[in-house]
Amino acid sequence: MGKVAVGTAVVCAAAACVAAALVVRHRTRSSGKWGRATAIAKELEEQCWTPISKLRQVADALDVEMHAGLASEGGCKLKMLITYVDNLPSGDEKGLFYALDLGGTNFRTLRVHLGGKEKGVVKIESEEVSIPPHLMTGSSQELFDFIASKLAKFVSSEPEELHPPPGRQRELGFTFSFPVKQTSIASGTLIKWTKGFNIEDAVGEDVVGGLTKSLEKIGLDMRVAALVNDTVGTVARARFSNQDVIAGVILGTGTNAAYVECAHAIPKWQGLLPKSGEMVINMEWGNFCSSHLPLTEYDQALDAESLNPGEQIFEKIVSGMYLGDIVRRVLLKMAEEVDFFGDTVPPKLRIPFVLRTPDMSAMHHDTSSDLKVVGNKLKDILEINNTSLKTRKIVVELCDIVATRGARLSAAGIFSILKKIGRDTVKDGKKQKSVVALDGGLFEHYAKFRSSLESTLKELLGDEADETVGIEHSNDGSGIGAALLAASNSQYLGVQES
Ligand code: GLC
Repeated sequence: MGKVAVGTAVVCAAAACVAAALVVRHRTRSSGKWGRATAIAKELEEQCWTPISKLRQVADALDVEMHAGLASEGGCKLKMLITYVDNLPSGDEKGLFYALDLGGTNFRTLRVHLGGKEKGVVKIESEEVSIPPHLMTGSSQELFDFIASKLAKFVSSEPEELHPPPGRQRELGFTFSFPVKQTSIASGTLIKWTKGFNIEDAVGEDVVGGLTKSLEKIGLDMRVAALVNDTVGTVARARFSNQDVIAGVILGTGTNAAYVECAHAIPKWQGLLPKSGEMVINMEWGNFCSSHLPLTEYDQALDAESLNPGEQIFEKIVSGMYLGDIVRRVLLKMAEEVDFFGDTVPPKLRIPFVLRTPDMSAMHHDTSSDLKVVGNKLKDILEINNTSLKTRKIVVELCDIVATRGARLSAAGIFSILKKIGRDTVKDGKKQKSVVALDGGLFEHYAKFRSSLESTLKELLGDEADETVGIEHSNDGSGIGAALLAASNSQYLGVQES
């Protein structure tokens, strides 16, 4: 018995020693873990750092690229595409027009009733359809057939009193939010896909031709009156209500900007000078790249593993398609290198794009004292349970670093446009105001992104900005803008509208 007791005491003492050793080891390991996790976050913060001096360098580099893209075709990072939109809506547009808005995983069909200066946009009806993923990488005719069938269904719900008179075609503004080399206001060939689309047979083909073929196939008598980028639609929509609008920016799945350029400042433009003296330019700024951009190992890996390596670098560090995935990549490194989520790497963390930007935004905006939203997102999306408050705080910090970099770079982009067009025109004794219209889910729903963008733009512009520069949200601009451009390019212009 005594022996046993002694033995037990020995075993207990030994167990206590082991337990103590384990506690000590765990403490050292976990304090090491926090130290190393913080070091990874710190390093990210340093690499993503965007002081005003850097943003000015980025804006200057953009300016150089803008000039190069306007001077000649091809070879430039900024395509500076001529849109054939030289006449923006005046507000007088009237009638019933359709729009089709394709540019992300969903597309929308719209029916827009325009009532001219007095009534403005009278009524908008719209429908959103999600694109089955296999159609995003299949054949172009399959995609266009699918879209045409949904459009036909939408048109069939048109109230009888709005039916066009016999012999009159319905007209459509087609928002196609990818880089297109336009050959007229209603035709153009796809330069390349972006944002996860990859339908090879469409590249180099006329997108309006493709859609028209599908419309004819199902017997829908509708004419594409305008082919527009979403940024151009945004400018058009905003200009309809505010003549001070000079640019449109999309911050959504992708990012891009369009602005109103003086026709004589476009050396590559071979056509007649438009009467207005102006031409809207689709910058395709998502493809901007410069040694001044603050790029990290995570961005490089994301780019290398993407469908379009080496392309759309600005877009890959700014836009909604990618921000969540950058955060995921940092978390994966922490899990692999410092056991941030325990001894094993959570398998879900290895799945590209599993952490979406709206979820990142929800975590970033979590105001609960225990960061409950962060905890739930980690559990629901990444299957990481029981995270400590300390862990959650680091996750929020990562979201902040990545979103702030994107927002500040977007502000630098807007600043470069304002610089390029100059803001010193005087009209009626006053400096003319320049308004930039913004749209897209990232701008609309990610409040911290938006406020960082706004404050950075103020920082860049200085005090005079309040008087001369404005930014506004152009809700639904891309679709409605396309309908407006269909109206201003209607084949029935001058014919009395109801
Ligand atoms: C991508 C497209 C561009 C579009 C932008 C926003 O950058 O290339 O055309 O405007 O996304 O949707």
